Amino acid sequence: MIHELTLLPQTRRAPAVAKEVPHGFGLRYDSAHSHAHVLSDGFGRQHTYLRIALVERCNLRCRYCMPEEGLDWTPQDRLLTAPEIIRLARLFVNQGVTKIRLTGGEPLLRADIVEIAQALGGISGLRTLAITTNGLLLGKKLDRLRAAGVRGYNISLDTLRADRFEEVTRRRGLPLVLGAIRQALRTPGVVTKVNCVVMRGFNEDELAEFVAMTRDASVEVRFLEFMPFDGNRWDARRMVSYQQMLALVRRFYPLERLLDQPDAVSKTYRVPGFRGTVGFITSMTDNFCEGCNRLRITADGNLKVCLFGSAEVSLRDLMRGGAADETLLQVISRAVGRKRARHAGMHNLATMANRPMIMIGG
Ligand code: GTP
Ligand code: 5AD
Ligand code: SF4
Repeated sequence: MIHELTLLPQTRRAPAVAKEVPHGFGLRYDSAHSHAHVLSDGFGRQHTYLRIALVERCNLRCRYCMPEEGLDWTPQDRLLTAPEIIRLARLFVNQGVTKIRLTGGEPLLRADIVEIAQALGGISGLRTLAITTNGLLLGKKLDRLRAAGVRGYNISLDTLRADRFEEVTRRRGLPLVLGAIRQALRTPGVVTKVNCVVMRGFNEDELAEFVAMTRDASVEVRFLEFMPFDGNRWDARRMVSYQQMLALVRRFYPLERLLDQPDAVSKTYRVPGFRGTVGFITSMTDNFCEGCNRLRITADGNLKVCLFGSAEVSLRDLMRGGAADETLLQVISRAVGRKRARHAGMHNLATMANRPMIMIGG
């Protein structure tokens, strides 16, 4: 089944965001400040990676991401506007952020995503602009996003079987997602990763097929431990741990460990001789909080300093109240300063209040 993908080789490293990209919205922010400390926390972690959710909604309904009964979506006028997003992005890049990832919900549902990407791609100091997407709409927009400077595509795909795809996403669309992966892999100069959330009794028998994708293509297939979020009916028994996933893969393939950056969320391996790599995102059994360099802005404009932390502060309300950049920086600095050393552990997380995943963006 995998071999039908005929994945093509591609460049692995994301090059710098194209400098010639125009400033889509023409909003300039030239900070007189250069507070390296604004984005550093009490544990010496420097935050250089900002994840911005562009929308809350999604065109899929993945069971592990959103509750079956749906959600009360934030009204459109309470989501950040493009100029607000760009203002915040410039502010964070001025404080040392070098990588921005656009997330959602499904970020490609946002009508002005190309314009936003163009504006972000033009921010000097930003080295990597990337998107996490379910891939359904990527085919149509990939060329324009690439021209805007988007160099990384993390595409979610949990199964290679149409019936299972429909079961987990409550929608159809597997051929579109596979097409988007192929297209991304054909596009020169972009890094393509596939995110596969592994759940016991659902897809743990497909790991070897996913690994087979890495034979001829420079793709990184990453297996994610199932994480608890509000409304996703997490159950420790359904989580397949990192060690269990490794054992499942090793029944079929040898794996050699590669070196990871200290801030990597993924533990990377390679099947000797294969072009691509295999990663494991081990948030539950072997957290990587110590090297965390990530901050998040939700689609409704809250700064979230930890994926699993309920502490949030509304940058939208401050901006709409007329706050100057200096004020925003003070609030951001205080929030980052309060960031905890690590998340509370999977069993505690399962009972703690947080947002549903779809309203965080991963
Ligand atoms: P790269 O930039 O390619 O490394 O991607 P990424 O892993 O940061 O982004 P992606 O959107 O693909 O995220 C995949 C998953 O990584 C998320 O759903 C989380 O499971 C995990 N992840 C990302 N950031 C964090 C984090 O700060 N804490 C924890 N616990 N998990 C994270
Ligand atoms: N556990 C693990 N990963 C999840 N994702 C969404 N919800 C969960 C969950 N409960 C993944 C998506 C996407 C990434 C941002 O997070 O598959 O690829
Ligand atoms: Fe949509 Fe992604 Fe959540 Fe699935 S995981 S419902 S694709 S936002």
